[in-house]
Amino acid sequence: MLKINNLHASVEDKSILKGINLEVKAGEVHAIMGPNGSGKSTLASVIAGKEEYEVTKGNILLDGEDIEELAAEERAHKGVFLSFQYPVEIPGVSVTNFMKTAINETRKAKGLEDMPANEMLKMIREKSELLEIDRKFLSRSINEGFSGGEKKRNEIFQMAMLEPKLAILDETDSGLDIDALRIVANGVNKLKSKDNAVIVITHYQRLLDHIVPDYVHVLHNGKIVKSGTKELAHELEAKGYDWIKEEVGA
Ligand SMILES: Nc1ncnc2c1ncn2[C@@H]1O[C@H](COP(=O)(O)OP(=O)(O)OP(=O)(O)O)[C@@H](O)[C@H]1O
Ligand SMILES: [Mg+2]
Repeated sequence: MLKINNLHASVEDKSILKGINLEVKAGEVHAIMGPNGSGKSTLASVIAGKEEYEVTKGNILLDGEDIEELAAEERAHKGVFLSFQYPVEIPGVSVTNFMKTAINETRKAKGLEDMPANEMLKMIREKSELLEIDRKFLSRSINEGFSGGEKKRNEIFQMAMLEPKLAILDETDSGLDIDALRIVANGVNKLKSKDNAVIVITHYQRLLDHIVPDYVHVLHNGKIVKSGTKELAHELEAKGYDWIKEEVGA
């Protein structure tokens, strides 16, 4: 589904990603870990097509198609979803209306009519129940006054509604209390299918107790320096990153 070849990217002429190779197949969950500043969020942003980042070498293929030249919006329409580390507030636009617009824009890009209102309501009901989201929450202005945990839950709700092909969750665990973490993780697990894939970026092994990854990668200084299974996350939790840095001579 996603294939990244020798990807180099920079922001404001500063080189950040220095040769990333990654293949994510449909049905897989990949976790990306690594020290602060190693380039995890940058990688997520580059895949999603955020404008500030410039790809200087290599390519990103989604289902065999080079998506590097596409705008973030077009990538979203093709099924790439990125959760926001710091979501924006839109006063006056409710969670529900924001979702309706987002869904209908995606449909329009595919040449489809707007989703019928009853279908939309049914979907909102189903997905909000799945994620144990309160009715009242859905009518609030998006992100306005949301607590950290509410923002995160809202992101996962957005993901549930948009049913992306490739979801990238950046630090979805930060700021979630234990119950919310479980709810969000369960939501992600329920949305998983053989046709989609998830990349979870996290600092802590605990999220991976709930969202069990098929592969774990460690990013360091803009490169994937180690890949393994979920055991690698346990090892990192116990030993930190220094041993890996030593191993790769960094
Ligand atoms: N828009 C930007 N402008 C300037 N520097 C940036 C920008 N985005 C990222 N960087 C720099 O790129 C490097 C990698 O940042 P990135 O956010 O990808 O790290 P990260 O691995 O997600 O870290 P964390 O674990 O702290 O979230 C950092 O040195 C950061 O300061
Ligand atoms: Mg980050």
